[in-house]
Amino acid sequence: MKSPTSPYQPLLLRLLHNAIALLVFASLITGFMVYDRFDKRFGTLNLPIVPNTQGIHGTIALTFLVLLPIFALYCFHLGSRRLVQPQSLKHLNEFEKSIGWISLQRLTNTLILLSGTFAAITGRMMQEEWLPNEELNHAWYIGHLIAWVLMIVGIAMHLLMSAKVGGLPLLLSIYNWKIRAEDMPNSWFKGFKIKPSSTILLIFEMLVIGGIAIAFVLPRVALFKQ
Ligand code: HEM
Ligand code: HEM
Repeated sequence: MKSPTSPYQPLLLRLLHNAIALLVFASLITGFMVYDRFDKRFGTLNLPIVPNTQGIHGTIALTFLVLLPIFALYCFHLGSRRLVQPQSLKHLNEFEKSIGWISLQRLTNTLILLSGTFAAITGRMMQEEWLPNEELNHAWYIGHLIAWVLMIVGIAMHLLMSAKVGGLPLLLSIYNWKIRAEDMPNSWFKGFKIKPSSTILLIFEMLVIGGIAIAFVLPRVALFKQ
């Protein structure tokens, strides 16, 4: 039975979101293992050396990159009410009311997509030989480290804001196994709108989808130029 304290998340969102969340966490951990083995400049956990950490990270991260545009298209065209709204920025100083927090939650959701795109572009531009050769100051690598920090901060904000807005029931709703009878694949795309819901979301969508396209193409262009 549906209770007002347990929000329902569409099955398609649960599938895409949880696959992405798993891949992001795996990328964060394996990425940190790469840093911890070759860099250590900003602190180290001295983790035991796992052979081929870069290869493992590369494989997980590439899967993330392939799924990211699909998740992003879902977010912009089916889940856009959970992303930033034209009025969101105006409400950002109204934290005495829940609309302030909801606006921040939606802005955070949108910014996570952008940080993931940035991580993908900078990661794609890295070369496997850099870190083993102690070349630790390439701009793409520094950018990739910044992306790691942005993702950590983004996820922390995402969890805090979701907790603030909907508490534990909202957080857990994304991991709920219950499926409504009407939530079947033939109805998943019913609300799909090609038209962007607002100019601000169109700008973010161009940045995210354009960025992902750049992540796929730029390494080849760079190779061609060498
Ligand atoms: C401290 C953190 C991180 C370090 C040191 C790191 C390191 C690396 C390295 C060395 C590569 C090149 C691997 C190769 O060419 O085989 C790479 C690629 C990549 N990374 Fe990271 N990474 C980190 C975090 C992340 C995070 C958090 C994400 C995404 C959520 C990510 C996404 C990617 C992507 C998409 C690629 C390209 C994969 C490919 O084209 O095969 N990385 N990373
Ligand atoms: C333990 C981890 C996580 C939990 C518990 C969680 C929880 C949630 C919840 C409950 C929602 C729905 C919010 C609502 O209905 O207002 C949501 C949406 C969202 N989450 Fe997460 N999340 C997690 C990790 C992540 C990660 C790692 C990403 C990174 C890509 C992410 C990106 C998003 C985005 C972009 C949305 C909006 C989806 C839409 O537009 O429909 N989440 N999350």
